[in-house]
Amino acid sequence: MEPIIHIDKLNLYYSSYHALKDVSMDIPEKAITAFIGPSGCGKSTLLRTLNRMNDMISGTRIEGKVQIGGTDIYSEDVHVEALRKQVGMVFQQPNPFPKSIYDNIAYGPRLHGVRNKAELDHIVETSLKQSVLWEEVKNFLKRSALSLSGGQQQRLCIARALAVQPDILLMDEATSALDPISTLKIEELVQELKDKYTIVMVTHNMHQAARISGRTVFFLNGEVVEADDTKTLFSTPQDSRTEDYISGRFG
Ligand SMILES: Nc1ncnc2c1ncn2[C@@H]1O[C@H](COP(=O)(O)OP(=O)(O)OP(=O)(O)O)[C@@H](O)[C@H]1O
Ligand SMILES: [Mg+2]
Repeated sequence: MEPIIHIDKLNLYYSSYHALKDVSMDIPEKAITAFIGPSGCGKSTLLRTLNRMNDMISGTRIEGKVQIGGTDIYSEDVHVEALRKQVGMVFQQPNPFPKSIYDNIAYGPRLHGVRNKAELDHIVETSLKQSVLWEEVKNFLKRSALSLSGGQQQRLCIARALAVQPDILLMDEATSALDPISTLKIEELVQELKDKYTIVMVTHNMHQAARISGRTVFFLNGEVVEADDTKTLFSTPQDSRTEDYISGRFG
């Protein structure tokens, strides 16, 4: 598979704290890659470097390279808004805007210049269908997004991310605040999305990583310990620290 993301000797510092240490990896296109590892090992930090969300945190400094589709995303001529359109993100807590369901989805496309009502209607419908929420909300698109259940809100956030047609979807523990049935729905959804999108997900749930990802990367203290095909990493880990973690001896 073609790598769409190429990370080369990436170091990230929060002021003097060295949070990512010489991280290098290739992330394949149109596949699901899972980041696992104990709390504080740098999973969210690395995820945020992929759409420059870390730009918003003062005192952050990076060294090394992140290339997406061959472009160095930290070079001066990269437009961060365009990058974030290409690389969408879904967070742990569903965070819909306090607007209608429709306006949540139409927000990004409007921001990028779509004004035509029929076109917006089409984007809203397609995005909600892709995130398997359409049937549940199609009759009350004007209702506040905040009236939806947690699981529905998270599918709305996924639809909102898809509405601007990203190539890559970053998910940071996107199911950890949800009940088991909503979690399963999102897992099924993510598996369907992988044919069209590159998905990078952080999860604390190793069963989830094993169930749905094609590749898994295990982090410890800001370093990549092991990255492999998910089946291989969980069945025959090469590093004893990976084995200890996946067998539940720490973390
Ligand atoms: N804004 C920040 N300022 C300073 N230090 C930070 C900041 N964000 C994260 N860190 C530190 O960087 C390290 C990595 O944090 P990060 O949030 O990436 O870990 P994580 O693997 O996502 O953990 P968790 O599983 O708990 O979400 C931690 O030691 C954390 O305290
Ligand atoms: Mg995190």
